[in-house]
Amino acid sequence: MCRVAYLDNNATTPMHEKVLLKMLPFLKDSYGNPSALYDLGKQANLAIQAARKEVASLINSKDNKIIFTSGGSEANSTIIMGYCLRKAPKAGHIITTSIEHPAILKACEFLEKEHDYSITYLPINSDGIIELNQLENEIRNNTVMISIMMINNELGTIQPIRSVGEISKRNGIHFHCDAVQAVGKVGIDVEELKIDSLSLSAHKFGGPKGIGALYLFNKSDIMPLIHGGGQEEGLRSGTENVAGIVGLGEAAKLAKERYEFLKEHFVQLRKLFLSKLEEQLDGWELNVGGEFVYPSTLNIAFDDIRAEALATMLNFYNVSISIGSACSSSSPKQSHVLTALGLSNEKIRSSVRISFGYQTEESEVLYAAETLIHTVMQLRQLSIQKV
Ligand SMILES: Cc1ncc(COP(=O)(O)O)c(C=O)c1O
Repeated sequence: MCRVAYLDNNATTPMHEKVLLKMLPFLKDSYGNPSALYDLGKQANLAIQAARKEVASLINSKDNKIIFTSGGSEANSTIIMGYCLRKAPKAGHIITTSIEHPAILKACEFLEKEHDYSITYLPINSDGIIELNQLENEIRNNTVMISIMMINNELGTIQPIRSVGEISKRNGIHFHCDAVQAVGKVGIDVEELKIDSLSLSAHKFGGPKGIGALYLFNKSDIMPLIHGGGQEEGLRSGTENVAGIVGLGEAAKLAKERYEFLKEHFVQLRKLFLSKLEEQLDGWELNVGGEFVYPSTLNIAFDDIRAEALATMLNFYNVSISIGSACSSSSPKQSHVLTALGLSNEKIRSSVRISFGYQTEESEVLYAAETLIHTVMQLRQLSIQKV
C-alpha cells in the first residue's frame, strides 16, 4: 500500500523522467549559446527550434507564433502590458474575470493604477462559470482586451472559451487565454477557438519550472517586456534557457500522446476518492461540481474543520494537498476564487483543494482518501473534547 500521496498537481507536477533525460545533455555537454555560429551553438539552436515545433503542435499553432518565456506569469505579463500599452497607452479597458490567477489580476491592477485603465471583473455563477451575455454587455468602445482563463486553478472549472473567442472576434477585440492549467490536460486548437494569445507553463504538465511560452497570433501586436540582445525575434531578450526549453518541448510531446486518455484516468480517480468519502464520512461538500469541472480538481469543504489544521496533519502522513491556490498561500488573504463563488468565510476556511496529475496512481488516491477521512474524524473528535 502506498504511504505517500502528492495531490497538489495544480501547484506543480513532478518532472517526467523522459523530460529529465532529454534535458541533461543541455545542462552539461551541449552548453553552447544558441546565438553562436559554431557547432555547439548551432546544436542548441536546433534543439530550441525542435522544442518550438512540439509546443506549437500541442495547441495547433504555427511554430513561429511561439515565444518562450520564464513561465506562465511572464507570458501573462508580456501580453497584458505589451499588447494593452501598445494599443492604448492610457485609459483603455480590459474585461477579465474575478477568478483569474494573480498573474493576470495584478497586471490589470498595475494598468489601472499607473495608466488610468478601467477593468471589468466578470462574476461567476454557482457552477463557477461566467455568463456570456454579461461579457457582451460589458464591451465598450475603448475595450482593448478580453482575458479569460481556460481552466481555473482552484476550482477546475472550464470557461466557455469557444463562445468567448467568437464574441471577441465579432467585436474585433484581442482575446487572451491563460491556459496554464489546461495545456497538457485538454486538446487545444487556438485557431478553431479563435484565441489571439495564450499562456502556458511547463511545470504544470511534467516539464521543468521556470519555462513557459506565449502563443501570439500577431507578433507585431506587442511591445517587449524584456529588452536586450533581441532573442525570440526581439520580443523576449536574454540568452535562452536551452535545457528548460528542451524540457518544455519534451513535456509537450508526452502530453500530446496522453491527453486523450488522461481525462478518463482522472474521472476514475475522482470517482474512487469521492466514493470513499461518501461511504465513510459525513459533513463535507464539493464546492463546485458538475459538467463544467475538469475531473482532476476537487475543491471540498469539511464541516467544523480548519483547512490549515487538516493540511498540516495530512503532511505528517506524507499526504500533500493545498488550501486554496498554492501561488497565493503565503498570503493570509482568503481565496478570491472561493469568495467569488459566494462561499461564506467559514466555508472558505474549511476548504481544501485536491488535484491529480498525469502520474497520480489509484493507490495514492486510496491512501490519501483513507488518511483524510481518519484525520477529519480525529480533528472533529478533538474539537468536541475541547468544548
Ligand atoms: C492559471 C494560472 N496562471 C498562471 C500561473 C503562473 O504560472 P507560472 O508558475 O509558470 O508563473 C499559474 C500557476 O499556478 C496558474 O495556475
